[in-house]
Amino acid sequence: MAHALTLLCLNVLLVVPVAAQFTSNGEQRWPVPYRRFDRRPAVDSYCEAVYPFCPTGDRDGRVPSVRDRDVISVYRLQTPVWEFKYGDLLGKAHIMHDAVGFSSSESGANYTMEWYELFQLGNCTFPHVRPEVFAPFWCNQGAACFFEGIDDVHWSQNGTLEKIGELAGSQFNDMAQWVQDDNNTGIYYETWTVRSDPGPNATVWFESYDCSQFVHRTYRKLTELGAKLSSRSQTNYTKIYLYSGEPTYLGNDSAIFGQPALKNLAVDIRNFYHTFRPHQSFADFAVSLLEAYEKVVLEKSFYLYYNFEYWHLPMKPPYMRITYEEVPLP
Ligand SMILES: *[C@@H]1O[C@H](CO)[C@@H](O)[C@H](O)[C@H]1NC(C)=O
Ligand SMILES: *[C@@H]1O[C@H](CO)[C@@H](O)[C@H](O)[C@H]1NC(C)=O
Ligand SMILES: *[C@@H]1O[C@H](CO)[C@@H](O)[C@H](O)[C@H]1NC(C)=O
Ligand SMILES: *[C@@H]1O[C@H](CO)[C@@H](O)[C@H](O)[C@H]1NC(C)=O
Ligand SMILES: *[C@@H]1O[C@H](CO)[C@@H](O)[C@H](O)[C@H]1NC(C)=O
Ligand SMILES: *[C@@H]1O[C@H](CO)[C@@H](O)[C@H](O)[C@H]1NC(C)=O
Ligand SMILES: *[C@@H]1O[C@H](CO)[C@@H](O)[C@H](O)[C@H]1NC(C)=O
Repeated sequence: MAHALTLLCLNVLLVVPVAAQFTSNGEQRWPVPYRRFDRRPAVDSYCEAVYPFCPTGDRDGRVPSVRDRDVISVYRLQTPVWEFKYGDLLGKAHIMHDAVGFSSSESGANYTMEWYELFQLGNCTFPHVRPEVFAPFWCNQGAACFFEGIDDVHWSQNGTLEKIGELAGSQFNDMAQWVQDDNNTGIYYETWTVRSDPGPNATVWFESYDCSQFVHRTYRKLTELGAKLSSRSQTNYTKIYLYSGEPTYLGNDSAIFGQPALKNLAVDIRNFYHTFRPHQSFADFAVSLLEAYEKVVLEKSFYLYYNFEYWHLPMKPPYMRITYEEVPLP
């Protein structure tokens, strides 16, 4: 019964074709385009947030409109959420959180805009393997949060708070409209970036969809609207990589978990995710990443969940890496 209900929830997500998944020759397009939906579905009550999402934002996610002739400063905001070291395998990793700040020269008000997980990072990276539900259960929504205020100390003390440009009020208002659309159609968080190898010519199989990707999309949108952005320092971001040979498409929940013929695959996916703990603080998340690393090295296999569908990744060295690398401003 619970299984049927879960499938029902997924059926509500109507897919909007944005980028075709296949090229005109019928070949798979890489990276696989992140799927956009026509609206954000209600969250399943099984998912429980430890911290409420966007507590000081507008309830309906409204962004205040400013006068067209206002001048809005744009800030690059970054702060470490967490740091850990695991031998030479994952190196010394900084997991950074990114956001964008705005301040109005007319009103003096300032704002923070960020995109993050509704139910924390662990739940977006590893599903819940529940006894009563056959398919692994994901609490993996992510969303944009816009709220008044910039906490200067929070961003600048161990991170970055840097003014990178100015916008006309009208450009800010256009961006506000774009954020609503982006927020309603891009609904789930994806931790992993999957590539064929660490070299510069690697094929990217899947792109992550996380706080830093949101910041990059925002910068691209602002540039498209005519803003000029520049930074005096190197603009580096955290990426969590998997390395694999060409991925194989497996199917969605109903295809895999609803068909007796695929029972072995279904059990294999359940067993794969059973090892990891989605109930996670950041410290637990580190432990789960290390467990994932060890399992992947041993089995050379990973089941990736992307666009609410499973893919098999034939993993290869160096398997997994956390990097802090430069992505220049557009
Ligand atoms: C799952 O995949 C099948 C085909 O493999 C498709 O017919 C079905 O609509 C998909 N379900 C959802 C919820 O996307
Ligand atoms: C998600 O993660 C948090 C810990 O970060 C946990 O307390 C919560 O119960 C998890 N599970 C669900 C279903 O949301
Ligand atoms: C984005 O969606 C979430 C979840 O529905 C909502 O809480 C938030 O206010 C929205 N943010 C914006 C900027 O629209
Ligand atoms: C944002 O506004 C607060 C309150 O007025 C102020 O303390 C802070 O310095 C401002 N930050 C920026 C980056 O404008
Ligand atoms: C900055 O780092 C120090 C040392 O790790 C820590 O005690 C402090 O709370 C951090 N500041 C902020 C605003 O996170
Ligand atoms: C990457 O591709 C370029 C152009 O094809 C080539 O010149 C370069 O040698 C390649 N680099 C590596 C590391 O394979
Ligand atoms: C930032 O990225 C560049 C290139 O990706 C790298 O060489 C540099 O070491 C990074 N900076 C830090 C502080 O990690």
